Amino acid sequence: MRYLTFALTKGRLATKTLELLEELGITCQEMKDKSSRKLIFVNEELKLKFFLAKGPDVPTYVEYGAADIGVVGKDTIMEEGRKVHEVLDLQFGKCRMCVCGPKDAKELLKHRELIRVATKYPNIAKDYFYNKKHQTVEIIKLNGSIELAPLVGLSEVIVDIVETGSTLRENNLDVLEEVCPLSARMIVNPVSMRLENERIRELITKLRVLVQEA
Ligand code: PRP
Repeated sequence: MRYLTFALTKGRLATKTLELLEELGITCQEMKDKSSRKLIFVNEELKLKFFLAKGPDVPTYVEYGAADIGVVGKDTIMEEGRKVHEVLDLQFGKCRMCVCGPKDAKELLKHRELIRVATKYPNIAKDYFYNKKHQTVEIIKLNGSIELAPLVGLSEVIVDIVETGSTLRENNLDVLEEVCPLSARMIVNPVSMRLENERIRELITKLRVLVQEA
C-alpha cells in the first residue's frame, strides 16, 4: 500500500483537522510535539503522511500531487483557482468574505463609483466586483491588517474575512455586503481520487458522518 499524504493548513485549521481525524482513530503522535522542527509526520500503521503548509500553498501541493489530500479554507481555494476536487465541507473555520468599510462607503457601492478596494484576495474581489456586481474598481493587494486601508485613506472599502466582527467594530467599520460564506474544506488531487478511490471515498464518508453529527 502506498502512503496517502495530507497537506494541512498550519494553525487552527490543522489543529481542528487533527482532532477530527483522531475521532476516526487516525492519530499522529509525532505531530503533537510542538517543539519539534520536523516537517513531515508519518503514521506507519495506516500508511499516512502529514505535513503543514501555509494556506495558499496547500492547493498548490494538492494540484501537483505532492499531497493527495488537503485541508484549507474556501477563501484560499477560490483565490488560488487550482485544479483540485473540493470534496467535503468540514463545517469548522466558519466565517464570511465581506465587503467592509465605513458606513458612508455604502453610497459609493450603490452608485457603482470607481472606488479602491484593498484586499488579500484580489481574485475574489475582482470576480465579485466585475462579474457579479458589474462595477469597475481598482484593486489594491495587501498582505494583512487589511482594515487599516480605509482608516488611512488607501482605499474606500476592503474585501476581507469577517469572523466575530470584532476587528471591524473596534475600528468603526461595517460589513457593507456579503460576498460568500466560508469554512474549511477538504480537497483532493484528481489523479489520486482515481488511483486511491476506495481509501479516499471511505475517509470522506466517515468524515461526512462525523461533521454532520457535530
Ligand atoms: C483575519 C481577517 C480580519 C480578522 C477577522 O485576519 O483578515 O482581519 O481576522 O476576524 P474577526 O471578525 O473575528 O475580528 P487575521 O487575524 O487572520 O490576520 P491578518 O490581519 O494578517 O490578515
